[in-house]
Order: sequence, then C-alpha cells, then structure tokens
Amino acid sequence: MSTALVILAAGKGTRMNSELPKVLHPIAQVPMLVHAMRAGAVLEPERTVIVAGHGAEAVRAAALDEDEGATVVLQEEQLGTAHAVDQARAALEGFEGDVVVLYGDTPFLQPDTLERMLAARKTHDLVILGFEAADPARYGRLVMQGDSLERIVEFKDATETERAIRFCNSGLLACNAETLFGLIAAVGNDNASGEYYLTDVVEIARKQGLAVTAVACDEAQTLGVNSRADLAAADAIFQERARAELLDLGVTLMAPDTVYLAADTVIGRDTVIEPNVVFGPGVTVESGATIRAFSHLEGCHVSQGAVVGPYARLRPGAELAENARIGNFVEIKNAEIGEGAKVNHLTYIGDASIGANSNIGAGTITCNYDGVMKHRTTIGANVFIGSNTMLVAPVTLGDGAMTATGTVVTRDVEPDALAVARTKQENKPDRARKLFDMLRAKKARKQKDT
Ligand code: UD1
Ligand code: MG
Repeated sequence: MSTALVILAAGKGTRMNSELPKVLHPIAQVPMLVHAMRAGAVLEPERTVIVAGHGAEAVRAAALDEDEGATVVLQEEQLGTAHAVDQARAALEGFEGDVVVLYGDTPFLQPDTLERMLAARKTHDLVILGFEAADPARYGRLVMQGDSLERIVEFKDATETERAIRFCNSGLLACNAETLFGLIAAVGNDNASGEYYLTDVVEIARKQGLAVTAVACDEAQTLGVNSRADLAAADAIFQERARAELLDLGVTLMAPDTVYLAADTVIGRDTVIEPNVVFGPGVTVESGATIRAFSHLEGCHVSQGAVVGPYARLRPGAELAENARIGNFVEIKNAEIGEGAKVNHLTYIGDASIGANSNIGAGTITCNYDGVMKHRTTIGANVFIGSNTMLVAPVTLGDGAMTATGTVVTRDVEPDALAVARTKQENKPDRARKLFDMLRAKKARKQKDT
C-alpha cells in the first residue's frame, strides 16, 4: 500500500513569541518540521505534502532542503485542522493509497508507531493515534466503544463525563485518501471555536458505517511544542536519549550531561568524548578518536585515532584523516588534514589541504581571504611550518618543504625548499646596557622634579 504524508505546519505558534515560524525552531539543531518529516520518511511516502501558513516561505525552504520532492501548499487562513488537510487535496490528486496526517510540531514520533497505525488500517477504514494523558488538559477526548472509536470531542465542546476520559487525541491519523477527502468535505464549523475540526471525520465515518479505531502510543511521542520552555524540555529529552544511545554503542562520554549532540551526530565505537563538547549538525567521528574538552564541531569528519582539542573548533568542511592531531585554540574550516598531520596550537587553517605527517607550528595562519575572495593553501606531505608563519593564499608548498619561524609566505615553495621571509637579525654589542642606563637616568630626573 503506497502512503502519502500530510504534515500540518500552518499554525502561528503565538506562545513561542518569535519571528521564526514555530515548526522551524530546532531541536538538537534540526527544525521540528524536519524531525516530523524524518519520522514520516520510514513509511517511504510516495508523496509528502506540507501545509504551511505563517512564515510559509521559510517553511517551504526548510522542507525542500530536507526533501526536494516534497510539495508545500499554502493555507492562507487557519480555519482549523480539517481545513488544513483539505489544502493538500489538489497535491494528492490521483493518489490512491493511504494518507497519514502528522503535525509539524511533534518531533518525537517513533517509526514503529506509524507502522502500527498502518497495520490497524488493514482492519479499519480510519485509524487515529491516541495516548493516555497524565494530564488530559485541553486535548480532544477519544470516545471508545470497545475497539471502535465513536467520536472525538474537543475539550471546549465536551461534557463533564467526556472530560473525565483520559484517552486523548494526538491529532495523527491514517486513512485512504479518497475516503478521507470525502469525509473532510462533510465537516462543518458549528462548534465552540467556529473551526473545521479534523476530529469530526470520526463521527462522520461512523455514521457512514465505516470502521474506526484508535492505536495508542506513549505520551512522550505525541509531545507537542508550544513555548520556549517546551522547546528546551524537548531538546533535553532528545539529548538524554541520544547520549544513552551513544553509550550503548560503545562511546565513552566522560560527563554525558555536558555533551550536546545534534540529531544527526554519528560517533564510532571506543571514541572518547571529554566534558563540554558541542556537536553541531553534520558531524561524523570514526571509532577510536578522542574529542577533548571544550571543543566545538560542525559539518566535519574525524577519522580513526584522530585527537581534537581541548578547545578546538572544527567548522564545516574540516576533514581529518587517521591519527591527525588538532590541538588547543585551533580553528579548521573547509580543509583536509592528512594522516598523522599535526596542528597543535593557536592556528587558523581555512580553505586548505595539509599532506600526511606535516607539522604546523604554533600561531600559523592561512590568510585565505583578501576581503573579496577566498583562496586555497596547499601544503604537501612531511612539510614543517615554522611558528607564526603567515601563508598568503593562493599558495602551494611542496612535499618536504619548510618555512622559517615568522615567515610571510607569498610565493609557492618547491619541494624540500626552505622559505625564509623576515628581516635579518642584527646584534649591537653593549647597546642594551647603554639604553637601560639612559632610561633609568631619565626616570630618576623626573622623580626629582615632582
Ligand atoms: C488538536 C486536536 C485535538 C488534539 C490536539 C493534540 C483538532 C480539532 N483538535 O487540537 O483533538 O488533542 O490537536 O495536540 O484537530 N494547524 C494548521 N492549520 C489550521 C489549524 C491547525 O496547520 O488551520 C496545525 C497547527 O499548526 C498544529 C496542528 O495543526 O501543528 C494542530 O493544531 P492546534 O491548533 O494545535 O490544535 P489543538 O487545538 O491543539
Ligand atoms: Mg495544539
């Protein structure tokens, strides 16, 4: 059975108090909407439709960035969840399988939950995802009769008895496309909010004699984010899970609570992560590496046996080969660091490649930017860069070359050559002592005058 996803993401998210549309706020550095898209992706959907409204252009860009095949439709006015799903009608023209409706602000949905919903679809026309709420608050209540879901009552419209029900509506559902759009066409807005409620499709379906049921999941999966506090709490839950997974996979986290991970962080077995390390998006670390304290990594790859930090920054495009060493106060951007190469202290390497076993001295800087354009620095294998060398790009240094300390390299250096570019030193005998005498005398005269 082919499936299509419809992800509702038009809401304003007033309580976020933000210019950014709610669904684009990140959890573990990935927008909530993308979490929802990834959760839905396990169904290998034939079509994915995102219903956008507030901040639609930004939502569109984020959705297409994750899946260029997705369709983003606009819900100009937010007239309710049924009206929102109805906006996907044209985009699903000709689609004959099942539609699964998700919310863009519930990032914790687990893949097997969606699979269980589709399994229940084999025996029921419409399947709703419900959960036992610890505090049912303002959720819609699921009115069950045995296995059959009879209606969903919104809190605002519920009687006292109905409000006592704890089995609540998550908002997610699965239904055949044609059936669903038929049901939605019959939904009205005669209720306490004057909205077109998607939940009304349940009662309409039952009246038509269709089989409707609810599948349950734990409440954590349906957790919605409505405020910055919810966002922080959701991120904390995510972090806790991700750290536990890494520990299970054989990664050492010396102080797990201080390591901040991104949703896509990949770390190999027997890698050691010291305290206070931040992983931005797009980081892969192979097995047996060491990431020392207070390092910040994003968009980079660290190979087996490499050591990073303490206090190192790896920016997008940093590629460390096996056993490379990046030390304290070193920044690497868009650069390949060869096998066994060392960049140990106070250095900026940007738009560069460094060959195997080269050693970059303290205070080295690749001057990669001329104020208008970026240029590359290419350093061969077994090169020795003296401390405080400025490499003015574009520039190439051949294998086995060396630069003298303090050199400003502006021309290519041939293999095995030594580049020296600094003023010659001159020593003036006795001159220091005379200078000291003169200065001390001057100070003494001044003190006498005052
Ligand atoms: C909805 C359900 C309620 C359920 C709860 C779970 C309805 C009528 N009610 O209520 O039974 O317990 O979710 O969280 O469905 N949206 C749009 N366009 C709209 C309206 C909403 O895209 O016109 C989107 C929102 O951005 C959000 C989702 O749909 O992602 C749910 O809308 P929301 O207003 O939060 O519904 P609730 O009142 O919470
Ligand atoms: Mg809500």
